[in-house]
Amino acid sequence: MRPNKERVLMTGGSGRLGTELRRLLPDLIAPPRRELDITRPETIEAALERYRPTVVLHAAAYTDVAGAERDRETCWQTNVRGTAALVSAVNRTEAGLIHISTDYVFDGTRGGYREDDPLGPVLNYYALSKLVAEEVARLARRHLVLRTSFRPREWVSPVAFTDVYTSQDYVDVIAPDIALIVTRWRDVPYDTLHVATERKSVFELARRRRPDVRPGSKSEAEVALPDDISLDVSRWLALKARWKEETTS
Ligand SMILES: NC(=O)c1ccc[n+]([C@@H]2O[C@H](COP(=O)([O-])OP(=O)(O)OC[C@H]3O[C@@H](n4cnc5c(N)ncnc54)[C@H](OP(=O)(O)O)[C@@H]3O)[C@@H](O)[C@H]2O)c1
Repeated sequence: MRPNKERVLMTGGSGRLGTELRRLLPDLIAPPRRELDITRPETIEAALERYRPTVVLHAAAYTDVAGAERDRETCWQTNVRGTAALVSAVNRTEAGLIHISTDYVFDGTRGGYREDDPLGPVLNYYALSKLVAEEVARLARRHLVLRTSFRPREWVSPVAFTDVYTSQDYVDVIAPDIALIVTRWRDVPYDTLHVATERKSVFELARRRRPDVRPGSKSEAEVALPDDISLDVSRWLALKARWKEETTS
């Protein structure tokens, strides 16, 4: 049943994406980790009891890709076990679950990945944990998996790779789409959606906000990087266009 008003409880509200979403959705309930820690199931129960959300937006994660290679335990406990704890608690309520996933669930060899393409093999431990987390999230009775990818608002590095292709964008470009989906999640007729922009090289993306960025190659990087991790976003673009048409007609 559609409630009169959605009550959205967010995990990871202090993060990069969460900070943008809190600005866009002032009613978002986003408790800090000391109140809602996904590795402590009793805090999840308490938050669900206290806020009685109609949907839980799950963006909390261990996101340090290099750190995850050194501290696999924390990465797994947070991304996999934390998601599992959240799913079982959510399933004891009527709430839905929107899970934030990543383009890194794909192998990154050919790009243009569609929602139903097979996942993996993954490039690193963070990606493995997010792939498993995504499958765990699908155990939520009512779920929507959003695969996305974003950068901070500013391009900080002086170098950007010309030989890595992506559909990611700056967080302030991606967040409004995610905010729209969160407010209309019941109108999404899919269980998975790719939320990103068009395919481009990382260098092209960097140049948009830092015109003096130097071209580089992924062979200089400390971590393994994909050739082309771009997502096919046609499903989302068509849905967004339909929503726009409905509101203007
Ligand atoms: N950044 C990207 O390029 C990217 C790309 C694709 C997908 N994603 C996904 O998008 C989501 C948001 O990413 P982000 O870049 O915004 O993350 P972020 O800036 O690294 O923030 C991570 C968030 O998770 C919270 N968190 C970590 N462990 C927690 C725990 N045990 N319990 C509760 N909260 C916990 C952090 O809280 P504290 O502030 O307390 O540490 C913080 O709010 C993640 O699911 C990530 O995997 C990110």
